[in-house]
Amino acid sequence: MNSPVWHEAETARRYHIFARQTMMYQELSRLMVQLAEIEPGTQVLDLGCGTGITTQAVLEAVGDGGHVYAVDVSGPMLAVAREQVTSEQVTFIEADAAAITELADGSVERIVCNSVFWQFRHKPQVMAELRRVLAPQGRFVFNAPEPYFMFEAIPRSKKVSVLFEQLAAERYGVGRQDLRSIEVFLRNCGFEIVGKQMLERTRSAAESYLFMQIPVATAWMEPPLEYETRLALLEEAYQLAEPGQATKQRWMYFVTRPL
Ligand SMILES: C[S@@+](CC[C@H](N)C(=O)[O-])C[C@H]1O[C@@H](n2cnc3c(N)ncnc32)[C@H](O)[C@@H]1O
Repeated sequence: MNSPVWHEAETARRYHIFARQTMMYQELSRLMVQLAEIEPGTQVLDLGCGTGITTQAVLEAVGDGGHVYAVDVSGPMLAVAREQVTSEQVTFIEADAAAITELADGSVERIVCNSVFWQFRHKPQVMAELRRVLAPQGRFVFNAPEPYFMFEAIPRSKKVSVLFEQLAAERYGVGRQDLRSIEVFLRNCGFEIVGKQMLERTRSAAESYLFMQIPVATAWMEPPLEYETRLALLEEAYQLAEPGQATKQRWMYFVTRPL
């Protein structure tokens, strides 16, 4: 399951505007396709395909003989993707990541998952499904940004409260992962890490402003504020902020294979 906000038409509309007016998802997709080493003829699952930015990048890599299965749980996101990527080599599937029943066992050679993985609330079930659909020699590539991912290997603690969080991360993939806990979690799910790469990029104030207009980007607030209120706050913040201010974003990419 995931945040119901992904199912809103306004999320898809704003996401599409963001993806068209900035380079972020293209930049992230480019490295993902590169690390997945997709050769012409490959069968690829694009998990959480959204509006199809990564799907398009994968499609260009698979050549004439390959195929892309682009899966997303959100109807509105998929509707935009279907308009954007029109190719007989792409099959769009509306499904949850933990139940991709249209795909047979071992039917894909690569799984790419751009800007989604850390959002899954049911990671063990998703990993079991990926293990099922991925060919034994296949690769699963995903990424995660700070602060959801910590770029350190934090050793097992001796404190109850810290250990509690570490066990939750290792067993269920819940909470923030670090370099050690993600490895343990993946291994528990039958995958091993065979490559890692960091991507650092600069986010301009204008990109932040556009990104935060996507309903899902500010839906985490507790207690929640109405979307209109969030938009009004964002408008004020953008007027008050220095236009030249930029922030560094760091993403970690993982290339994994079934054990
Ligand atoms: C940040 S977008 C990334 C989209 C795309 N990969 C890209 O790079 O543009 C996250 C996507 O993951 C999808 N998603 C979230 N939870 C999902 C789930 N449980 N199963 C399938 N898709 C999911 C959302 O609907 C959304 O379209």
